[in-house]
Amino acid sequence: MTPDSLPRDPAPDATLALLRQGYRFIPDRCARFGGDAFRTRLLGREVLCFSGPRGVRLLYGAGGLTRQGAMPPTVLRLLQDKGSVQQLEGAAHRHRKALFLRLLVEEEAGETLATDFRRAWAERLRQQGETRVLDSASDTLAEVACRWVGFGPQISADADLRRALYLMSARTGSVGPRVLMALLRRRRVERRLARALDTLAPGSPGHRIARFAEDGRPLPPEVAVVEILNLLRPIVAVGRYIAFAARILVVEPRWIPWLRAAEDPELEAFCEELRRTSPFFPMTAALTTRPVRHEGLDLPEGQWLLADLWGPMQAASAFARPEDFDPARGQSWRGQDSAFAPQGAGDLASTHRCPGEKVTLALMAAGLKVLCRDLDWHAPPQDLSVALNRVPARPESGVILSGITPRA
Ligand code: HEM
Repeated sequence: MTPDSLPRDPAPDATLALLRQGYRFIPDRCARFGGDAFRTRLLGREVLCFSGPRGVRLLYGAGGLTRQGAMPPTVLRLLQDKGSVQQLEGAAHRHRKALFLRLLVEEEAGETLATDFRRAWAERLRQQGETRVLDSASDTLAEVACRWVGFGPQISADADLRRALYLMSARTGSVGPRVLMALLRRRRVERRLARALDTLAPGSPGHRIARFAEDGRPLPPEVAVVEILNLLRPIVAVGRYIAFAARILVVEPRWIPWLRAAEDPELEAFCEELRRTSPFFPMTAALTTRPVRHEGLDLPEGQWLLADLWGPMQAASAFARPEDFDPARGQSWRGQDSAFAPQGAGDLASTHRCPGEKVTLALMAAGLKVLCRDLDWHAPPQDLSVALNRVPARPESGVILSGITPRA
């Protein structure tokens, strides 16, 4: 079967619809056209959109794909950027990816970051007495991440730089002046970090990236900075998951005593259910570099592909009563489940699946410990709705907590 036999979106170009509908753009069209894939045009270019395990398996398993040229340049610059591991394929990708897996999965990054974050965020909230979780968790994560990467206070104590790290992810779905400002800020951060490369603590993750050899030579400084940002930016972005965690505690407070009593595996299961239910990374993109045959489809070279990550996690075919928040479902980052892919799926070493899932879960669990075990608080009336047309999504208020005191 060739792409021509798949349903076609009748709109001449669907870019505005994508901006208007956000997370619902691909799954709603698949439901309307019947099936798990359809053809449309975005930014004037032909694209094949998938919602479901087949598309996830294609982008996280099939050979003959590249991420280069698959994302709009502004999104690429704010997220992974040129020269990053995400832009590599084959042996070069596996070699660089192995470094990320050592730093983030095999070693103790999750534990180290989670311990520092729990201490620093609890202390900050105790002092402030009230907070907007999205802001304070993200800002504290920025400080903790800069320290862990190996920078001293000249970087970690710079509030503008920490804010710029937050905005790199927060502005990816924006258009116009806001995205332009975020790009300018990113430029400034890159220059700042490039000047600070010599100050990285010996043996720290940042130092190891700066010394990492490819073809017998260390990474060029601009690439080292891109990869250091590939650690800092997404650690800060975990603040968004922590805001979703705070939201569920406000909306369904029965989870608070449950979490106080939970053992670590239950806490992790709770975080996994949060990752399933919290809209974050909507879709990933790739291009075929040669003709590819995948699960009944014959794709030509140069085919642009989008795989929906959010929709499959809400499908009743994979998750019974998907609208219910239920930590007992059993999905886990340790598996290779193509219906549960909040940070990609497939084999970690050879695909573009995110190497940061272990760290993400450790930081989410630390955030929940602060909110349930370290502090008491109450939530004033506020708008906790989550608009699915805004990418990345967030609880509208950012989750405001007040009357924060240490838990007796
Ligand atoms: C905040 C929650 C996070 C989300 C929603 C997320 C999402 C993703 C997704 C969907 C991908 C796959 C991109 C693709 O297929 O092209 C990815 C890749 C990646 N992520 Fe994450 N991520 C998160 C946290 C992290 C953390 C904490 C780190 C590091 C500390 C990290 C580092 C990376 C890197 C380096 C890649 C590129 C991997 C490759 O190309 O092989 N991410 N992430």
